Amino acid sequence: MVVSSAFLSSLLLAPCLAIAQSSTTASPASSTTAFASQFTLPASVDEGAPLLPTVNDPTAPDAQVKCPGYSASSVRTSSSGLTARLTLAGTACNVFGTDVQDLDLRVEYQTNSRLHINIRPSHVTAQNESWYLLSTEYVPAPSQESGQTTTSDLTFSWANTPGSGFGFNVTRNSTGEVLFSTSGTKLVFENQFIELVTHQEENYNLYGLGEVIHGLRLGNNLTRTIYAADVGDPIDYNLYGSHPFYLQTRYFEVGDDNSTTLVTEQLDPSNATGNYTSSTHGVYFRNAHGMEVLMRPTNVTWRTLGGSIDLYFFSGPTQPDVTHQYLDVIGMPALQSYWGFGFHQCRWGYQNWSVTEDVVNNYERFGIPLEVIWNDIDYMNQYRDFDNDPIRFNYSAGTAFLQRLHDRGQHYIPIIDSAIYVPSPDNASDAYQTFNDGNETGSFLLNPDGSLYIGAVWPGFTVFPDWLTTAAHAWWKNEMVTWHQKLPFDGAWIDMNEVSSFCVGSCGSGNLSLNPVHPPFALPGEPGNVIYDYPEGFNLTNATEAASASSASQSQAEATVTASSTTASVLTSSSSTSYLRTTPTPSQRNVNHPPYVINNVQGDLAVHAVSPNATHHNGILEYDVHNIWGHQILQATYAALLAAIPGKRPFIIGRSTFPSSGTLAGHWGGDNSAKFYYMYFSIPQALSFSLFGIPMFGVDTCGFNGNSDEELCNRWMQLSALFPFYRNHNTLSANPQEAYVWSSVIDATKAAMNVRFQLLPYLYTLFYNAHTQGDTVMRALAWEFPNDPSLADADRQFVLGPSILVTPVLTQGATTVDGVFPGLVEGTDVYYDWYNQTPVSVPSTKNTTIAAPLGHLPVYIRGGAVLATQQMAMTTRAARNTSWSLIVAPGVDGTASGSLYLDDGESLAPNATKIVTFAAEMGSLNVTVHGNYTGLDLPLANITIMGVPRAPPDNLVRINGQPVANSTYNATSMTLFIGGLEPVLGGKIWSANWSLS
Ligand SMILES: *[C@@H]1O[C@H](CO)[C@@H](O)[C@H](O)[C@H]1NC(C)=O
Repeated sequence: MVVSSAFLSSLLLAPCLAIAQSSTTASPASSTTAFASQFTLPASVDEGAPLLPTVNDPTAPDAQVKCPGYSASSVRTSSSGLTARLTLAGTACNVFGTDVQDLDLRVEYQTNSRLHINIRPSHVTAQNESWYLLSTEYVPAPSQESGQTTTSDLTFSWANTPGSGFGFNVTRNSTGEVLFSTSGTKLVFENQFIELVTHQEENYNLYGLGEVIHGLRLGNNLTRTIYAADVGDPIDYNLYGSHPFYLQTRYFEVGDDNSTTLVTEQLDPSNATGNYTSSTHGVYFRNAHGMEVLMRPTNVTWRTLGGSIDLYFFSGPTQPDVTHQYLDVIGMPALQSYWGFGFHQCRWGYQNWSVTEDVVNNYERFGIPLEVIWNDIDYMNQYRDFDNDPIRFNYSAGTAFLQRLHDRGQHYIPIIDSAIYVPSPDNASDAYQTFNDGNETGSFLLNPDGSLYIGAVWPGFTVFPDWLTTAAHAWWKNEMVTWHQKLPFDGAWIDMNEVSSFCVGSCGSGNLSLNPVHPPFALPGEPGNVIYDYPEGFNLTNATEAASASSASQSQAEATVTASSTTASVLTSSSSTSYLRTTPTPSQRNVNHPPYVINNVQGDLAVHAVSPNATHHNGILEYDVHNIWGHQILQATYAALLAAIPGKRPFIIGRSTFPSSGTLAGHWGGDNSAKFYYMYFSIPQALSFSLFGIPMFGVDTCGFNGNSDEELCNRWMQLSALFPFYRNHNTLSANPQEAYVWSSVIDATKAAMNVRFQLLPYLYTLFYNAHTQGDTVMRALAWEFPNDPSLADADRQFVLGPSILVTPVLTQGATTVDGVFPGLVEGTDVYYDWYNQTPVSVPSTKNTTIAAPLGHLPVYIRGGAVLATQQMAMTTRAARNTSWSLIVAPGVDGTASGSLYLDDGESLAPNATKIVTFAAEMGSLNVTVHGNYTGLDLPLANITIMGVPRAPPDNLVRINGQPVANSTYNATSMTLFIGGLEPVLGGKIWSANWSLS
């Protein structure tokens, strides 16, 4: 979590922590940790230099104008690629760093669909001119597959062009398309700045480049800054994760003579009536430096603050192909435990075990399934990792509580923060063994002078693990295993791993005797923090409550105005400050204030983050690896959980991620707010993480910051039920928003959970396919219907796997929602309403208005699917014991197919698995069983066949040739319902092949 508010302690101290001896007491209004008299850090500790992002600076030099470019020589071509020397083609420009004279170019045709281009300095000329080349130890970089020769679908071509020098193209042979072209632009390669300008056609369709809160299609007027930041979900800024990967789709209109013309405008459903095709490719820039991708009308420019140009091209030519090809490089998503797909409840503010257990009991009392209960930082002993509060969350009561949970098939997940408290040296009772153990083994980041780098997070002054040491990994594992012996939790929620620090630089150095210090801002509920408002329309739907909330916030506001008047004057007086601009020093780097200023949401790179000059034990600066810190704690946590809970798939949800993080963990959308628009943004954010190989995604349902309300929470509990990761989470001191708080939300939640539980075997199978083949789970309409250009920016609907279309209401007060049924008007697809099983009638226009009163989530089955379902139960363990049903939803050609993956749901390497495949065509269904896992061999309760035009004659429904007694035909919905299967099929439905006719 992050709390954004400029709270000044009543005691205003000089910047840079010239900390006075006096102290002030934080008033823990509804804070759950009883602090002793405590020193509050002044807000100024988290203020950086005043910087103007270079993209907004009209006086900034243009590297394309000033720089000479490079020229290629010594070109050696082989069947598997090419190498060359690139030499600076004129006088160094040194615009945002020191130009590198000589570069090595290496091009490798790695597979038929993957091309790798690497450009790096030829030799290091001075110590301080070093550039960090991202080690394959931390982030995979596969090399050539052996035996690869000239069959690649991609071609690299290059030229030395007068005026601009070396430029290259990547072309797809099968379509002739130039996928990537720097021709006619200058390559700029300096020790703190690299620039690569590429041409783009008008109105290009680019996706990915996360993490960002934005629509799915990125558009051509956006600067995507990539720099891991702890910040509460601002729109269009850099966020927690770093994913320098994009997917690009081009649509072509096919003429009568089969000629194709590139579509260069965004079509809407009413004018996309021609005959179209599309092609898709992907680009991954493997670099962990602060980075910017400038999307402009006719070009896309990549800029990084260091490292090398390490580009992977994926030829597609479809989105599933590109995703498979990308995940071949970064790794396939982890297979999640079955229980991870249950419902999770969390909040900041469950003050003790009994409050936490009350929540569990309330879910049971209201008959709402609950799989996992979570605790935020409340459980910690003064916010220290691996240390429970001895009174409120003591181990013996906790162990007994977790035993009760486990007995009922429920689970428990605690938050684990990234920073480690440093005990006060003056206070023996402040001792903290976790710190000592890590410190003795050299597991923490240092200052350039070799002393400990000491920032500040929730517990006070803290240190940060140095993941480039093996010591830190061993220490983390030991801490987690030891703590797990005291409290047998089931997974880990990794927070603050950008890595966040609440002050600029090593603010704790020399100040440790003040520990534990209070953060430099007010926590929610403390005086001086933001006043919570309500979602849009609250005043309309909750008039009485709104009136009293408004008068309460009025008096709170009056109190706050007085408290914050100091802040205002400070801001005013500093607004005349001119910006800090640094100029390159030959052969030296300024890592804290690089000459090129990225448009970081926090401004200065050191604000609210560990400073770029923090130094790893191997000498590498945080500047060079900042963006992978979050990934590496996930690696350490994965290994630690595997040691604590041997043989079981580690369950991890992490905030800061990097390419490959999906092999270890899932991700939640971070600190959103209780607003309808954040509910909308959850869809593009999820779809982007599909592309990033992190399918285990969900957001804080009902909203984290701010007060939720009945209507928003009703809609959101329903929408999130169709996301892979389903968790309700709330901030400290906001109104409660558990699903049982409002009666309409109870009903809506159960209705949506009923859909989710029936689809759990399908969702689990989708994850199996993601894990084994790199398939996506949540899918954009554009990916499932690649020949419809009107879907290029469709992100208010999605498809779960290939077969479940979800069209949620995303606006306040609505009772209908507009959506499309792709292919329905064209006659290529059919859809069936999930709830009444009726085929959707063909609308006159593509865009259709669907009835969606509060409490109804429109869900449709896309024809062509056979779904194996189970029933809702209070936990997934209980659901796995319910009997099966089959839904057959034929496509326009009358056929349907599907598959089902079964295993014990938790073993990292299950010793038995089973795959069942379904193939239906007019009049028959064949079920084929492979594998020997028997745990889910339960009875089949019924089969529902949709879209059946008329009732079959008596006695003609047969299984394995034997007549089935119980079948009913519903002429209204055109469904055939077949029950009474147990006498024919026996009680073990997946034990042998069978067929229905
Ligand atoms: C790259 O493609 C562009 C556009 O088709 C073309 O003008 C240019 O000559 C090509 N350059 C190289 C080096 O192949």
